Amino acid sequence: MGYIPEDILQNIREAADIRQVVQEFVPLKKRGKNWVGLCPFHPDKDPSFTVNEDKQIFYCFGCGEGGNVFKFLMKVQGLSFKEAAKSLAQRFGITIPQRPVSKAAKKKKELSERLLDITLSAAEYFQKQLRDSSTAQAARDYLAERGLDEKTMDAFGLGWAEDSWDGLIGFLKEKGLSLELAEQAGLIIKRTNAPGWYDRFRGRIVFPIKDHRGDVVAFGARTIGLPGQEEQPKYINSPESPIYHKGKVLYGLFQNKSPIRKAGRGLLVEGYMDVVSLWQFGVRQAVASLGTSLTEDHARRMKAVTKEWILLFDADQAGLNAATRALPICYKMDLRPKVLVLPENEDPDSFVRKNGPESLGKLLDSAVSGIDFLVETGKDLYGSDTEGRLKTIDSALEAISMVKDPVRKSLLIGHISQRLGVREESLWQKLKEKSQRTKRLKIAYKEPSQEAETSSNFRAKMARIGNRAEEKIIGFLLSYPQFIDRFMELNPELWLENQTLNELWNAMTHLYSMTGRLNLLELYERLEHVPALRSTAMRLASSFPPCSELETMVRDLENYCLNRKKKALRMQLLQQLRDEGENEDCQELLKSLQSLR
Ligand code: UTP
Ligand code: MN
Repeated sequence: MGYIPEDILQNIREAADIRQVVQEFVPLKKRGKNWVGLCPFHPDKDPSFTVNEDKQIFYCFGCGEGGNVFKFLMKVQGLSFKEAAKSLAQRFGITIPQRPVSKAAKKKKELSERLLDITLSAAEYFQKQLRDSSTAQAARDYLAERGLDEKTMDAFGLGWAEDSWDGLIGFLKEKGLSLELAEQAGLIIKRTNAPGWYDRFRGRIVFPIKDHRGDVVAFGARTIGLPGQEEQPKYINSPESPIYHKGKVLYGLFQNKSPIRKAGRGLLVEGYMDVVSLWQFGVRQAVASLGTSLTEDHARRMKAVTKEWILLFDADQAGLNAATRALPICYKMDLRPKVLVLPENEDPDSFVRKNGPESLGKLLDSAVSGIDFLVETGKDLYGSDTEGRLKTIDSALEAISMVKDPVRKSLLIGHISQRLGVREESLWQKLKEKSQRTKRLKIAYKEPSQEAETSSNFRAKMARIGNRAEEKIIGFLLSYPQFIDRFMELNPELWLENQTLNELWNAMTHLYSMTGRLNLLELYERLEHVPALRSTAMRLASSFPPCSELETMVRDLENYCLNRKKKALRMQLLQQLRDEGENEDCQELLKSLQSLR
């Protein structure tokens, strides 16, 4: 199924009642205007999970999980957005139209189906060979020695390609399958000096590679060190074909996507054996890019499952390089990458085998953010002299320049500014040069101006008592958005001290200015890239009590806001005067202003 048009999504949004959907998974009781129950996302004794029917959202006060009906279904069943939408459409009787297909597309699809038919048959053949064939004894011994059990081998459909030129060919002929198509699928190779074909994979253990739909699109085949194989490459892989584009497929993604979604975290590893062996040890979260460098298409597939990924690489130079190359792509595709460098001479397979999954888990918890990794390895790689530091800054900025979300970008700049002891403005300047040089992006970020900085310093010095009142205002406006106009005149952006609330307010007014309304679900969708704002919005909206005296409430809040606004303006004035402090007259003015207060 392709893309779902916006109007259909809108229909689903309107029809899919969140309480009804949640109740299929969680028993709910009415409490006030909310429904409450035990949270399905964390061990919950007191019901802290709430569903608000008016706003069509859920929020858990225990673990902070919250969102709309799509999010709930995705999270509880480990579905992608599209899968959740489809399932809701079915539940609530909404048809998703099939898009018309062109003739060429139809032909292509038919060819793919025929090729997939052959790869599937071949996979079954190899698998059966591994189980039953007398020629597979050495392979069974090899796998036993590497510690793989039957369940794991079944889960990944491991097989055996016997050491012969026409083992698979014989099988294909017997089944009446087309050898031309088998060649197109990369299974057999045309002879150059005689008519006919020969098997590509011989005397090797076969790993079927499934795409994200679960179709077998290719194979990887490992030697088991038979006599005569010493000089051959360790793995032989299917070539590119109409059904296999290695830059788009991640090994293990199909088998592990649901556990990865549930865990909210995936691992990117290098090899077949890593994925398979981790799976056997209960770490069902790994996918492999199979020795090729990570592509944007890979990252897109990863993002469809979760944004949090740990890149697990070897401690050698090749591993560090691979991580350094992969990170900008991850950032560009809006993943939240972390990196874990394994102890020397270990790969994930050998590590988990030696130390067990708990140790690996501990190690994983110590993974550093992609940016920190670039800063750390920069130090090792380029040294700490000026030239070295410049190179380090470059590699970190390379990754940061890819980040699309301006808030995230700004946070990352702040972070490396601290870590590297370089002023933020210089980093912004360099970033700007970089993006101009590569003409990559229009400059989409806002430089923190001098002015904003001093006034934010000022704000920071002010007491924190305002926080609860600030939450109340935002919570109120999320619940009663019809009043937003009146509050915009009071310029909360000038004085909301809590940074998150300030950003949330900006997002709210932005949405309101663009669409002429402030709809909580729309706000929720727009905040996709800023989880902190999203969850704050959900929390405040869910916890705001219904108010009976609406006008009184508005008046009280307005008064409060007006006071804050006045105070903020006064502060700004003072600050301005202080900045021009050299001037004697100003000093006088300042004194009199202060005495006036
Ligand atoms: P590794 O050499 O790390 O192999 O290559 P591995 O996965 O740890 O396998 P074992 O543990 O030795 O059995 C990592 C990946 O690079 C690709 C394969 O996808 C492999 O899993 N590769 C490696 C090849 O395609 N061809 C090769 O000859 C070697
Ligand atoms: Mn290995």
